[in-house]
Amino acid sequence: MVRENIPSVNIPEMDEQHQELFSAVTALKDSANCVEELGQIIDAVDAHFKAEEALFEKYQIPNVITHRSEHMKFLATLQKKHAELSTKDEAKEDLSTDLEQLVKSSVKWLKIHTNAYDAPQYGTFFKDGEYIGN
Ligand SMILES: [Fe+2]
Ligand SMILES: [Fe+2]
Repeated sequence: MVRENIPSVNIPEMDEQHQELFSAVTALKDSANCVEELGQIIDAVDAHFKAEEALFEKYQIPNVITHRSEHMKFLATLQKKHAELSTKDEAKEDLSTDLEQLVKSSVKWLKIHTNAYDAPQYGTFFKDGEYIGN
């Protein structure tokens, strides 16, 4: 797995999920089965967001309204793209340009989100996976 240079959120499990999401998204570009794989990525993204949001609840992390809506918007974008790709794939259209753009924009989103939301917002409340408060 190629390790992306993204900030740690000080919870090994979450850092691992971030790396896995990056590598799954990146691998999509060369996938022979991209529609199905995108479906699996959407499930993994959904599970990751749910895991983060469960932490917000459990530790009463403040100011997470925008953070949650960023999660929702990204999931909706991926789902829309999944439907589009699925239609094009059924029509035997070439997906390479769409895929290239999707990978590029998703990697960018993940980087910005991890940098601007995950790490500063809840990462600072943890150390080595333990809650330390702020
Ligand atoms: Fe995250
Ligand atoms: Fe997040």
